[in-house]
Amino acid sequence: MALLQRYRDSQRINHWIVALLFLCAGLSGLAFFHPSLFFLTNLFGGGPWTRVLHPYMGVAMVVAFVFLALQMWRDNLWTGADSQWMRQSAGLIAGRDKAAAHPAYKYNAGQKIVFWIMVVSLLILFVTGFMFWHAWFPEGNILMRRIAVVLHSASAAILILTIIIHVYAAIWVKGSIRAMTRGTVTETWAAHNHPLWHREVKERPPA
Ligand code: HEM
Repeated sequence: MALLQRYRDSQRINHWIVALLFLCAGLSGLAFFHPSLFFLTNLFGGGPWTRVLHPYMGVAMVVAFVFLALQMWRDNLWTGADSQWMRQSAGLIAGRDKAAAHPAYKYNAGQKIVFWIMVVSLLILFVTGFMFWHAWFPEGNILMRRIAVVLHSASAAILILTIIIHVYAAIWVKGSIRAMTRGTVTETWAAHNHPLWHREVKERPPA
């Protein structure tokens, strides 16, 4: 079975650090979202500890994501092939025309939309988070703080839903998970899901 390299070791380590920090920041944040979720503070050593740790885990997640995004943003720029992929996506999602070629370079249109939602929501979470991190930053205007809290929760909700879609898609498109665990994908997977990337890789002169 012919294999193609999709990610380097460092990129995979970077990705799983982001995923782990997302889990920690997400669960500790949800604990404050509603009293019914407060039990989640047990995972982090109780209420006060969760309040102390949450912003640090959030900042660490954003910093780790920046390293990942710096390597991936170019491959997530929109192309004509993505508009065509979007037009075909209804059939793809419905499970029809499985055999049809869906034009995609390294990432398809759906992955690109997910990527940019991650970028924007993490940016909003980061900026608004500092606006009510009382331990280190001045409290400022009460109205601004309230707006920041609402924006922070809304972007967190959007990010969580987006990650659920991201994980679902990674499992749904068989053969994708190994890209992030072993760094390689099969040629069949590449030719079927990312035909334009497959062609690029095959045409690339050996390093
Ligand atoms: C358990 C959770 C997760 C799983 C199972 C997972 C799985 C994967 C897989 C299999 C890929 C490779 C897809 C491909 O190359 O076509 C990938 C790529 C990626 N993942 Fe995750 N992931 C998870 C969590 C996260 C989180 C929390 C973030 C960010 C907040 C994230 C950001 C990314 C990014 C930026 C890429 C590159 C794809 C792109 O730029 O569009 N992942 N993930």
